Amino acid sequence: MNILVTGGAGYIGSHTCVELLNNNHNVIVVDNLSNSKKEAINRVEAITNKKVKFYEIDILDKRGLDLVFKSNTIDAVIHFAGLKAVGESVEEPLKYYQNNITGTLVLMDIMKRHNVKKIVFSSSATVYGMNNVSPLTEELPLSTTNPYGTTKMYIERIIRDTYQADNEWSGTLLRYFNPIGAHHSGTIGEDPKGVPNNLMPFITQVAVGKREKLSVFGNDYDTHDGTGVRDYIHVVDLAKGHLKALEFTMKNKTIEAINLGTGVGYSVLDMVDTFRVATNTKVPYQIIDRRPGDIATCFADTKKAKELLDWETEKNLADMCRDSWRWQSDNPEGY
Ligand code: NAD
Ligand code: WQD
Repeated sequence: MNILVTGGAGYIGSHTCVELLNNNHNVIVVDNLSNSKKEAINRVEAITNKKVKFYEIDILDKRGLDLVFKSNTIDAVIHFAGLKAVGESVEEPLKYYQNNITGTLVLMDIMKRHNVKKIVFSSSATVYGMNNVSPLTEELPLSTTNPYGTTKMYIERIIRDTYQADNEWSGTLLRYFNPIGAHHSGTIGEDPKGVPNNLMPFITQVAVGKREKLSVFGNDYDTHDGTGVRDYIHVVDLAKGHLKALEFTMKNKTIEAINLGTGVGYSVLDMVDTFRVATNTKVPYQIIDRRPGDIATCFADTKKAKELLDWETEKNLADMCRDSWRWQSDNPEGY
């Protein structure tokens, strides 16, 4: 099939492009490179020995996007493009609503005009808000604690309402838990700008000597060692989940929200320890105050993904640590 991947130069998008190409799909990427580099696409091509059709376009650019649909026969869209920094979204809510929500409205309008009505969307476990009832199941009520999360919740709603009005649409709303790791080649991976917000890129930057030590945000949570517990998922497992979701979306005229996680939670200190053993690299750390907005525990109920997508994760936490480390140590400055 011909798949349009918005945000395909980004962390999860680039790994998904590899899986799509390896499964003989044609890949068309639209990315404005606001949080990524074109080099990621070159490396996807090197890994797969296949070509990606790349357009440096903003999804807010109606005319540009329209041209992409006019110049290509597109069967379905995997929609990754979006801004994702929780803290920044609190500082600049309009930027987030404009980019993520208006961007999706423009995209879906152009899709409709060209009669492309299949979409796989990058949602997030953040739509479960402060719900402290892990394993989190898809039918829980949604709530959010920051504008970033609110964009995900609204976009899910927009896709559902579009389907209500026209049952020719179908969509899968993938709620990712905590993606980490990298392609085993070590040539593509997560390349955060500035100080990383997320745990794993912070750990690898400490390990490579770019930062002095990790700050652990609180050790007084109600968890086995007091530090926050999350469901870390290998980005290659996640990327494979998109292929399964794509198959499902092509076959079923419905909208389904589906968790993509492992169903197992690890604490911050479990992460530090597994990283040390798996990579033989120490990560000095200090305990500091809790980060506002964090919850103690968050992990997925994975039954729906198994049942509807026939998908399960294959990689364990040590694999994730090793692969994150290979990417970081081979590319200390990123792309
Ligand atoms: P990323 O920033 O690496 O990738 C997003 C890509 O979208 C970037 O290449 C960026 O340049 C592009 N982009 C942003 N706005 C655009 C626009 N207006 N037009 C065109 N391109 C645009 O992020 P990622 O980690 O790969 O995340 C991909 C998606 O998954 C995002 O929607 C994110 O919100 C969601 N998600 C990520 C995580 C995570 O922890 N990484 C968790 C849950 C959900
Ligand atoms: C994981 C754990 C921290 C950094 C975020 C978004 C969520 C989703 C995934 C997009 C927590 C602790 C972290 C550090 C630490 N993204 N930590 N020191 O908060 O679960 O989820 O990314 O949709 O929306 O909120 O991930 O990696 O930031 O934190 O102690 O320097 O590590 O407190 O327990 P989080 P994270």
